[in-house]
Amino acid sequence: MERPRNVRITFEPYGKRVEVERGITIFEAVTKAGLAIRSECGGLGTCGKCKVRIKDPMSVSEITKVERNILSPEELRGGLRLACQACVLDDCMVYVPPESRIGERKILEVGFEQEVPLEPAVRKIHLMIPKPSLNDVRADYERMIDTLSRILEVRGWQGEKFDEMRISRELLANTPRILREAEWDVTVVLRDEEILEIERGNTEGENYGLAIDIGTSKIVVYLVNFNEGNVIGVSSIENPQLMFGEDIMSRLTFAMRSHENLSLLNKVLVNGINATIGEIALKSGVNRDNIYEAVVVGNTAMHHLFLGIEIKHLALSPYVPAVRDLLSVKAQEADLKINKRGYVITLPIIGGFVGADGVADLLATGLHKSNEFSMLLDIGTNTEVFLGNKNEILACSAASGPAFEGGHIKFGMKAVAGAIERVFIEPETYEVKYKTVRGEKPVGLCGSAVIDVVAGLLRSGLIDVHGRIREKPEVSRIRKVGNEVEFVVAWREETGIDEDITVTQRDVREIQLAKAAIYTAQSILMKRKGIKPEDIKKIFIAGAFGSEISVKNAIFIGLLPEVPEERVKFVGNTAIAGAKMALISKKVRKESREVQKLVNYVELSLDPSFQKEFINATELPHRDLDRFPKVKDYLTKVRN
Ligand code: FES
Repeated sequence: MERPRNVRITFEPYGKRVEVERGITIFEAVTKAGLAIRSECGGLGTCGKCKVRIKDPMSVSEITKVERNILSPEELRGGLRLACQACVLDDCMVYVPPESRIGERKILEVGFEQEVPLEPAVRKIHLMIPKPSLNDVRADYERMIDTLSRILEVRGWQGEKFDEMRISRELLANTPRILREAEWDVTVVLRDEEILEIERGNTEGENYGLAIDIGTSKIVVYLVNFNEGNVIGVSSIENPQLMFGEDIMSRLTFAMRSHENLSLLNKVLVNGINATIGEIALKSGVNRDNIYEAVVVGNTAMHHLFLGIEIKHLALSPYVPAVRDLLSVKAQEADLKINKRGYVITLPIIGGFVGADGVADLLATGLHKSNEFSMLLDIGTNTEVFLGNKNEILACSAASGPAFEGGHIKFGMKAVAGAIERVFIEPETYEVKYKTVRGEKPVGLCGSAVIDVVAGLLRSGLIDVHGRIREKPEVSRIRKVGNEVEFVVAWREETGIDEDITVTQRDVREIQLAKAAIYTAQSILMKRKGIKPEDIKKIFIAGAFGSEISVKNAIFIGLLPEVPEERVKFVGNTAIAGAKMALISKKVRKESREVQKLVNYVELSLDPSFQKEFINATELPHRDLDRFPKVKDYLTKVRN
């Protein structure tokens, strides 16, 4: 008998049921169900992050070779499969375990910012226009402009280019009707020298804009009142492109495969942003038509994908972006659902690896205005490092990998509920205390926790400077599983995943490589500038990751140079803060171009000392212990 074309899948623990075409992968079915599942490889079958449990193994296709390579025999016996490999053949129940869920992540929505004068590009002016008569036969448009000029003059707003006022053909075509229907009582929406809109009655109070930060993993949107310059609504979502890979490279690879893929990535991103705008507008009681501008920042790949720009050359050496300058495009062209004549402004990009979010970070921290040397780090899969002052800023991007975001770590995960975010190891007894996100039962470890574990093990003498975990029979938390040594952070009975949560020798190596990449970037920039850690008066740590890390432990393992701890400042989401500054101030928008010119990009791999620096920095804290005198003192005492 022929099987039915459609099958029903129930996803647990969501209780979500979906009917899908027989034969598609569970990964595809997850999307159709409007859910999300982890993936670092975009469904290529290489990351092993999309594990799901199938209740009835007969309801899905046979186990593939790829799955046999990635999943252990016990996992396979327990019904675990890779969602991107298993195809649904019959009605089934699929359980998404905690480690595979893209949970509600702690998304950092606020950031440090500079005070700026309120000077938005969009202004609204209420006009009471004299009606035409036989004594006054001025044309409708001139009549409106005359009244507008008078009011602008009274308010002291008239710009020198007022003669060049622009209006779209379509709005002009409707102007006679709008003016008469409104009985000559209208509000003109001006954006610099363009009349964007003519609204009935007095709508001066309804003037809004958006600041949007498109991160690789999260999107934050601010709704801003142009009259006051204040944020009246904030909303954030996981970047919906996560389904196509957690890191930028896998998304670029996916987009390069076909034009359809590129449009798909653009579409899911823009749809996600539009849904967020809808939600924030509803919550704040604002009509989307009264949102006239959006300032968008993001890394170079997100910037290009948002605008649907060809990204092939960005993904291939020499990694050239299609455009670096500040852009202003019609919102309608970008498919952004705000006022149909509104605009989207993207801040300038520094280069292929340092995007408009970097410019926004600099604007928000004011690093570019300072006489003193400051450093700014935005830690992620790629870590951007800036070092400089008002005369020049050096920037580079370090391939730090996903370890600090929980990637490539056995029990690694992002800061979702239940993720362990802080760990303290008692140096004498090796007892462990930890703290989880939202205080829930532990289900994995965030990057900040793994840093704490590595620092704790080093402090307790349980690993050496090369990162080797020392096997000590008297320490029950250290054990060998197969060929690998690991440290138990949380015992099975304490966890929410029915197994011990551990940090393995391989995890320690991942952290060593990640921190070495970041330290090397900082050290090469310091060398290029001819300065030492003590010359750096401030280290700003931007981004969500930063807020939970212990500065003491970050220095102890050699992630940050040894500076007085009070010089390190967590500045949160400075990308969104910088975007908001540019939204409400034309001066800042102009400044963003100057910041871009002030920054010189350094290609780390071309520095002759790069390899040596990197290898030396993989040791804990560093092969040259004199760079970390306090840590050296401590370790010397412990060894003796
Ligand atoms: Fe399935 Fe990576 S292995 S998404």
